[in-house]
Amino acid sequence: MRIVNREEAVLREFNLYPLWQRRGEPAPIEAASTAVPVVVKVIEPITADNSITVRPSVPQSELANLDWPELKSMVRNCTACKLRAGCTQTVFGVGDEKARWLFVGEGPGADEDAKGEPFVGQAGKLLDNMLMAIKLKRGTDVYIGNIVKCRPPGNRTPEADEIATCLPWLRRQIELIRPKIILALGKTAATALLGRDATLASLRGRLHDYQGIPLIITYHPAYLLRTPADKSKAWQDLCLAVKTMEG
Ligand code: URA
Repeated sequence: MRIVNREEAVLREFNLYPLWQRRGEPAPIEAASTAVPVVVKVIEPITADNSITVRPSVPQSELANLDWPELKSMVRNCTACKLRAGCTQTVFGVGDEKARWLFVGEGPGADEDAKGEPFVGQAGKLLDNMLMAIKLKRGTDVYIGNIVKCRPPGNRTPEADEIATCLPWLRRQIELIRPKIILALGKTAATALLGRDATLASLRGRLHDYQGIPLIITYHPAYLLRTPADKSKAWQDLCLAVKTMEG
């Protein structure tokens, strides 16, 4: 049986293997991370007239003072939208509360609803591999959260009013974490964080801005499981994130 090394496994995950490599050149993972063309940095200001309305379930002045335990408790007890009645538990988020890297998905699925942790199903396995590809690990300098904290029935996309009600919790999480970069996974996360609607294809591949924090928009791991041909684009987005973090 042939032993597959970590670099090869990562490249295979992104459909980037095999890579032709001349003797004496850097290892494939290094070669791939520097060879991918990266689109010029453009920092976009957030539009003032956000199309997503935020409907806080607590007054902004109260929200702004919540510490981690208070925020967790308020989310746990939140019944502000109809999603809570149909889910097992709220899924707050997981990871290093001082992480430089923040990954934001859409909302819990069945596995996450059962376990109370984001991205623990098949999409989560792919996300873990995406993290590994850029030498990151869940929980170490990485925080993972979602736009909505309760599982939408049948894993449907969260509705605008559900997002509007839940988004303030994530906003406070971001204020507390103060990440150096945010990666929005999929269109729901992108739209909610940018405050405007657009296609994912038109948003990915460049830098955006969330409250002064560089924001990169890439494909949702569940989409990549269905559309592996787009994994190489997600890889480019991850390389842009690494480059951005390297300054
Ligand atoms: N998909 C998401 O967007 N979030 C999760 O936590 C799991 C799957």
